Amino acid sequence: MFKVHFSVVLATLFTLPVYSQETQSTLQTVLSNAPTIINLSANHPNTLATPAIKDLDASPESDLIRYGRLLIIDTYKQLPNNVNNKLNCSSCHLNEGRVAKAAPYVGMNVVYPKFRSRNAKINTIEDRINGCFQRSMNGQPLATDSVQMQAIVGYMNFLSLNIKSKDDLQGTTGFVTINKELIPNADNGKTLYAQHCASCHQLDGQGLYPNNTYMFPAVAGNQSFNDGAGMARTYTAAAFIKGNMPLGQEGMLTDQQAVDIAYYFSHLERPVFANKANDWPQGGAPKDVRR
Ligand code: HEC
Ligand code: HEC
Repeated sequence: MFKVHFSVVLATLFTLPVYSQETQSTLQTVLSNAPTIINLSANHPNTLATPAIKDLDASPESDLIRYGRLLIIDTYKQLPNNVNNKLNCSSCHLNEGRVAKAAPYVGMNVVYPKFRSRNAKINTIEDRINGCFQRSMNGQPLATDSVQMQAIVGYMNFLSLNIKSKDDLQGTTGFVTINKELIPNADNGKTLYAQHCASCHQLDGQGLYPNNTYMFPAVAGNQSFNDGAGMARTYTAAAFIKGNMPLGQEGMLTDQQAVDIAYYFSHLERPVFANKANDWPQGGAPKDVRR
C-alpha cells in the first residue's frame, strides 16, 4: 500500500512543473496567439473517429492537449529550434494525425514502448517522436520532460482515449502494404510524378509556400525530410503515397506506379542525415535504406 501511495505522490510531483502558474499562462498566451492553420487533409476519407478537441474543458490538462495539437499541425513555425525544414508533423501524419493508414497517432498508447531494429532497442513513444524530429523534420530532439514533448504525447493519448488494447486498432496504424518485390523504374517515376504530383508539390519537388504560408509541402530539396527518414525509403514512401496521394484522389495508383514515383522523388536531392551509419547496429537493414 505504501508503495502505491508513494508512486502516486511522485507522479504528481513530476507532472507539477507543467501545470505551474507560469507555464499555464504561457500556454494560454501561445494558444490565443496561434494562427489559423488551414488543414489541407481535413476531408481525407479515411479519417478515424476520435474524441474532439472542441469538446475539451478549460482545465490546464486540456490546454496541454490543445498545445500538443498546435505543435503537430504548425510544427516548423512553433518549434524553430527543433525543425530545420518546412514540414509539419501533419504533412505526413495527415489530418492532425487522425487518418487510418497515414501513420495515425490513434493507438500509440498501446503500440509503444516497442522494440525497433533501426536502433536495436526498446523505444518509448518519446524516442519514436524524436526519431521523426531528427529525420523527418531534419532537426533536433525535444527533451523528454519538456512541456512540448508532454503536450505532443498528451495529444496522442487524447486521440487514443477509446483504444484500450491492440485489438481496438483494427489495422489502422502505419501505411497500406506494398509489394516490395517490385523493381522501381526511375524514368517512369519521373513521368508519373510530373503527371500526378507536380501540380501541387511542383516539378522540382520543393513545394509551394505562397507568402511564407504552408500550402503544398516540399517532397525534395533542403526544406524536406532528410535521407535518414522513413519517407526517404522507396517502399515506405510508396506505401504512404499509394494510400494517401494524390491528395483527393488517394487510391488511384497501382503498386508499380507508387514504387516508381516513390523511387523518383525520394532520391531527389535532400538533406543528409549524418548518423545513418549507426542505424541497424545488429544488421538486418531493409534493402531500401539509404547509404
Ligand atoms: C516526412 C514525413 C513525416 C513527418 C513530417 C513526420 N513523420 Fe512521423 N513518421 C513518418 C513515417 C514514414 C513513419 C513510419 C511509419 C511506418 O513505417 O509505419 C513515422 C512514424 C511516426 C510515429 C510512430 C507511428 C507508429 O505507428 O508506430 C510517430 C509517433 C511519429 N511518426 C510522430 C511524428 C511527429 C510527432 C512528427 C513531427 C515532429 C512527425 N512524426 C513527423 C513520417 C513522418
Ligand atoms: C492536390 C494537391 C496534391 C497532389 C496532386 C499531391 N499531393 Fe502530396 N500532399 C499534398 C498536401 C496538401 C500534403 C500535406 C497534407 C497536410 O499538410 O495536411 C501532401 C503531403 C505529401 C507528402 C508528405 C509530406 C512531404 O512533403 O514529404 C508526400 C511525400 C507527398 N505528398 C507526395 C506526393 C506524391 C508522390 C504525389 C503524386 C502521386 C502527390 N503527393 C500528389 C497535396 C498534394
